[in-house]
Amino acid sequence: MLNYRDELDKMPSYDGVEKNYRIKVNANECTLSLPPLVEERVMNRLAHVAFNRYPNEEYYSLVEQIAKNFSVDDEQIILGGGSSEIIEKVFHAFGGAGKKVVFPQPSFSMYKIYAKAAESEGIPFDLDENFNLDVDAFIKKIREVNANLAVVCNPNNPTGNVLSPAQVEKIAASIDCAFLLDEAYVEFYGRSAVNLVAKYPNLLVARTFSKAYGLAGARVGYMIAQREVTRMVNKTFMPYHLNSLSLVTADIVYQMRDEFVPRLHMIVAERKRMAERLQKLSGVEIFPSETNFILFRTTRAAELKDYLETLDIGIRYFSPNAFGLKNCLRLSIGTRMENDEVFSAIKNFLEAV
Ligand SMILES: Cc1ncc(COP(=O)(O)O)c(C=O)c1O
Repeated sequence: MLNYRDELDKMPSYDGVEKNYRIKVNANECTLSLPPLVEERVMNRLAHVAFNRYPNEEYYSLVEQIAKNFSVDDEQIILGGGSSEIIEKVFHAFGGAGKKVVFPQPSFSMYKIYAKAAESEGIPFDLDENFNLDVDAFIKKIREVNANLAVVCNPNNPTGNVLSPAQVEKIAASIDCAFLLDEAYVEFYGRSAVNLVAKYPNLLVARTFSKAYGLAGARVGYMIAQREVTRMVNKTFMPYHLNSLSLVTADIVYQMRDEFVPRLHMIVAERKRMAERLQKLSGVEIFPSETNFILFRTTRAAELKDYLETLDIGIRYFSPNAFGLKNCLRLSIGTRMENDEVFSAIKNFLEAV
């Protein structure tokens, strides 16, 4: 008889089912792999990895670059296996029995799982019907429940909408507890709150290479916070938790980040084009997005998802129980050709009698 840890069977699982679709617009990935020049440099660098050594220099080289870019000290940066690892560790650092974590819903579905994994109490705070966050009420809730950690995803996944830097600052300034800002999609928005870290000792900002830099396969993310915070959060990580291959890859990608600017512009332009076209379809409600994806609602969401599957197009469908997301679908932005094909398929399905 195997005796698992208490409550493990009740632990929710991440509900994203992965498949290798012909057109894969279900996971907010970047549809393109690395720009050719970057790929060439990465491949050359990978040929010189010291496979026999634990990663040290590789870690600190990337830390240095990131710190320099944001004009912060190296000690203010933590790297992780995707921002997933960082977020999980932050929940461990501020969670624990009896501790409360407040986060908006709908938002990134992993927050409630990390809260449970850290044996803390996850307290969702409802967004309104347009997915806006009532910042004052959110602050009130955090204070009322005496939360130990507040988490906000900005821009928000899966809704796509944003808080302004002033709203983010208001939250940071009005709460005493730790405030984790998940900026996984911020490159598509362009208004990061990293500059507020110097002013607010409770602010932790998590970023990732998975979205704008198309490096989801390498699993690299980072966090920026004040020194004392990173010193404590660092205690929750295992030694050498990132591998040298991913680190050197991210290092080159970061050195060459200007190469990604044209594709960022392309994705934003394509998102606008897709939103405008989808908006014109009858029975479709589009939610504004500052990311690389679009959330929309149609009463035939489940059937549409099944129809797209028959064309080997993967799109994200949310369970009817997911708060606020009934009949919602989320699609990430692909290449222009992929977007055209996805749009035509959606149009054909919704306009067929
Ligand atoms: C809001 C948000 N945060 C964090 C992550 C984790 O990304 P990664 O671990 O690839 O950095 C995701 C991935 O989809 C996300 O949507």
